[in-house]
Amino acid sequence: MKIGIVIVAAGRGERAGAPHEGPKQYRRIGGEPVIRHTLRAFLTWEKAGPVVVVIHPDDESLFASAVHGLAKADRIIITHGGATRQQSVFEGLRTLSTTDATHVMIHDAARPFIDHPLLERIEALLGAGHVAVLPALAVTDTLKRAGENGIVQETVPRAGLYAAQTPQSFALTAIRSAHEKAAAARRSDFTDDAAIAEWAGLAVTLAEGAADNIKLTIRRDIAMADEKLSRQNALPDVRTGNGYDVHQLVSGDGVTLCGVFIPHDQSLSGHSDADVALHALTDALLATCGAGDIGDHFPPSDPQWKGAASRIFLAHAAEIVRQRGGVITNADISLIAEAPKIAPHRETMCQNLSEILGISRDRCSVKATTNEKIGFIGRREGIAAIATATVVYGVLA
Ligand code: CTP
Ligand code: MG
Repeated sequence: MKIGIVIVAAGRGERAGAPHEGPKQYRRIGGEPVIRHTLRAFLTWEKAGPVVVVIHPDDESLFASAVHGLAKADRIIITHGGATRQQSVFEGLRTLSTTDATHVMIHDAARPFIDHPLLERIEALLGAGHVAVLPALAVTDTLKRAGENGIVQETVPRAGLYAAQTPQSFALTAIRSAHEKAAAARRSDFTDDAAIAEWAGLAVTLAEGAADNIKLTIRRDIAMADEKLSRQNALPDVRTGNGYDVHQLVSGDGVTLCGVFIPHDQSLSGHSDADVALHALTDALLATCGAGDIGDHFPPSDPQWKGAASRIFLAHAAEIVRQRGGVITNADISLIAEAPKIAPHRETMCQNLSEILGISRDRCSVKATTNEKIGFIGRREGIAAIATATVVYGVLA
């Protein structure tokens, strides 16, 4: 079994918008022409044989630019369509008959959401010997028949009713001769290929269709498809900010780090409680939304911040981030201090961060290192901290 593909793309898309917007299969959804999505699905399916695309003679250059750079596009065989879908399919079948294909999947270019699982379901049925396979979904809406006057005449029982999709798939010679017969009988009113197969007496087997495999028909369908793909393609707007702070050690009775007072024979000197760790993290948070630094928001010259608990600064920065639509996803602090020992206090420090920022404990991290007795930190003249904040701000279009 060798499955050839016929993609019909010669329509004018009259229901989908103004003529100057061009045929719907070349309009862009998710940044790419509709037909490029459709073709990619088939070209990347490893069981696909020759791929015939039936285009309108006026669309040569539109088609060329729609597939420019598409992987495996050199496998595509182009042919020209006719005035009706039925004629376009017939042209495609004739062209496919010049290849070694034994079977054919006939698909609308205007159904870009075709997926491999559906192709596999159809292929399995063809492989089992079914001569005609129709992907379809059971109708779920209640159906009404109404007159021209808009008055309902009856409710149509929906049991046993299915909505047809494509790719409708066949043994190639069987569907080709069915089309030939239809043409010879001057029947041009068939709306799909399964109808021609039924008319020619072929048994048409149902395969389970896919809800996403819609045909873009009206303008609204194209807008909705574009929204759907744009959402999928959107990159999360993840931003990181870093912060650094250092304070001098002077003689005293203890230091405050990450909001924890640790008794020690030195103190950190500074205007507030000199909590270098929280100051560094405050700067890191502000840096994720271009909101300046801690000095802009809490000037050291302002007496109201004298001796202030630095958790106020951090909570304020978190509030600014949230007001700008940010969600804080991680806060990481490294302390560089020769003494006192940080390890016994790390858990309390992390819990403080979790509480001040209003995020879970596993999104908070405090680490510490000595400076190997070198430099000003090694000589116990000061303590430094560096911090990294990660904040997600919605999505990048
Ligand atoms: N098609 C085709 N040749 C035609 C008519 C239709 O190849 N003469 C293709 C369309 O390009 C489309 C598929 O058949 O991929 C399904 O047809 P439809 O949704 O009706 O598309 P259009 O005919 O282009 O749209 P409209 O009927 O609104 O003009
Ligand atoms: Mg049409």
